[in-house]
Amino acid sequence: MRHLLTTGAALFLATAAAAQQAADAVQPEAATQGAFEAISPEVAAALEAKFAGTPVEAETWMVAAANPWAVKAGADVLAKGGTAADALVALQAMLGLVEPQSSGLGGGAFLVYYDAESGTLTTLDGRETAPLAATPRLFQDGNGEPLKFFDAVVGGLSVGTPGTPALMEEVHLRWGALDWAELLAPAITRAEEGFAVSPRLAGLIEGDQERLGRFPATAEYFMPGGTPLEAGELLTNPDYAATLRAMAEGGTRAFYTGEIAQDIVDTVRGAEGNPGVLSTVDLSIYQVKERAPVCVSYRAHDVCGMGPPSSGALTVGQILGMLESYDLSAGPMDAEVRRLIGDASRLAFADRGRYMADSDYVPVPTEGLVDAGYLAERAELLAGDDALSEVAPGAPAFDHALNWADDASIELPSTSHFVIVDGAGNVASMTTTIENGFGSRLMVRGFLLNNELTDFSFKSHADGVPIANRVEPGKRPRSSMAPTIVMKDGTPVLAIGSPGGSRIIGYVAQSIIAHLDWGMDVQQALSVPHAVNRFGTYDVEESTAAEDLSEALTAMGYEVGSRPLTSGLHAIAIGDGLQGGADPRREGIALGQ
Ligand code: GLY
Repeated sequence: MRHLLTTGAALFLATAAAAQQAADAVQPEAATQGAFEAISPEVAAALEAKFAGTPVEAETWMVAAANPWAVKAGADVLAKGGTAADALVALQAMLGLVEPQSSGLGGGAFLVYYDAESGTLTTLDGRETAPLAATPRLFQDGNGEPLKFFDAVVGGLSVGTPGTPALMEEVHLRWGALDWAELLAPAITRAEEGFAVSPRLAGLIEGDQERLGRFPATAEYFMPGGTPLEAGELLTNPDYAATLRAMAEGGTRAFYTGEIAQDIVDTVRGAEGNPGVLSTVDLSIYQVKERAPVCVSYRAHDVCGMGPPSSGALTVGQILGMLESYDLSAGPMDAEVRRLIGDASRLAFADRGRYMADSDYVPVPTEGLVDAGYLAERAELLAGDDALSEVAPGAPAFDHALNWADDASIELPSTSHFVIVDGAGNVASMTTTIENGFGSRLMVRGFLLNNELTDFSFKSHADGVPIANRVEPGKRPRSSMAPTIVMKDGTPVLAIGSPGGSRIIGYVAQSIIAHLDWGMDVQQALSVPHAVNRFGTYDVEESTAAEDLSEALTAMGYEVGSRPLTSGLHAIAIGDGLQGGADPRREGIALGQ
């Protein structure tokens, strides 16, 4: 798929050198290439394409993810005729080994899957659940005051029942063609033979020594003998290999019941200083849930993704739905375009904070929030010239009382996103997480446990009114993850998503706008310097062309802050052929054939 560049896009490309500098600052290009190019000539070529700003092109199948080892695991499956579902299993198993800080068996995930044979789009919820023993006051002290964020994160209290293993198995049962054990084998081999610690992993260990050092199993794995692992060091993980072997032989029953489940529970409940309340019952009753996809019309496309408990598709959809009636063609360096996107985001985040949570527990006005009439009404608020001086939630149509207080949850960036298209045209877009970098910092059986429960609001009420996203037993914390498939006339044309906490929403919305409005190919779209607004402050990406917007945005009335905005976008555009892009801010690649 190719587009002509608009004026705005051309203007952006004139500042591409500055964007590349920012990417280099976050993830030095030479170090990334050096770390992975020996995997295969195809991997080396894909890294070179990414850093040259060129999409990878293919005819038949493609995969893009955050780590070249994981991409290769998926690509090998696709090359031998496996489905996107098969590739997902192999890729996720490998990702949990080589990028353990972001996702894995101890975490959760959301999947958007297009099945080419039936022409159907399915969304699967593999989100973690709160333990049955959890209460709305889980993250409050004896006086009902919210705990400090990292006091809650590090240890057992934040650990929800993992969903990723069950999701992998469900996906394989529904759409897989190859043998389950065969799909786990490459990660088992890699765990036993070892892999070189990546520059990104080494850097994150270096910066997190104090928290990683609190728990002996975690400290010993990431800082053997007290010394943090360095980039390039060969790392094996025999415990992870053993866990995967148990799953290969016994399915995920071997994970959710028996010795592995007991070890998870003992680790959570025994976490020194901050024990949790997870039980073997929580693990044994865990279920993946199929949810209705949330789709919003934008520029004659349908942008489809994951509904509650994720706020991803609803918030991305609200932003795009409000922008539908505005002309954004002036491109990413136009302050007026940024005002429109920024205030549409603020309005969407106001609704998100009030209404979005696990719809199995609280009534969520899902249809009302993305109703075209409602969004057109909200879009009228964007008609001025300056930043909105006040932003409040709207009143979407709904047949329940909507008396919720505004949310107070904190989300910090981590997570991973991958996209896969197989030879039959099946498409997978999956965002996968253990929440914070290194999750709860608790490690068991070769994998880290999530801290997903801190995606709940720590406050349960405000002024006596309950908060929709409060903790409740068995409930799934609200997410920002936005795995997306964009459809045109019922057929997928783009699969995309990103990590980044609640900034995921801005990263995904901007990239879709870059592709559809600014005419950029997928690699250009992912490389656009970020400007993200959630709650009022306009964050512009440090050391990039986005900083040039600061003066004009300040004059419009925004508070502007410059900071690293390390998205991890991966995307595949599907047209006559396939085009893949990988975020230059991280270590990933796209590979295809
Ligand atoms: N923990 C990241 C998210 O679910 O949005």
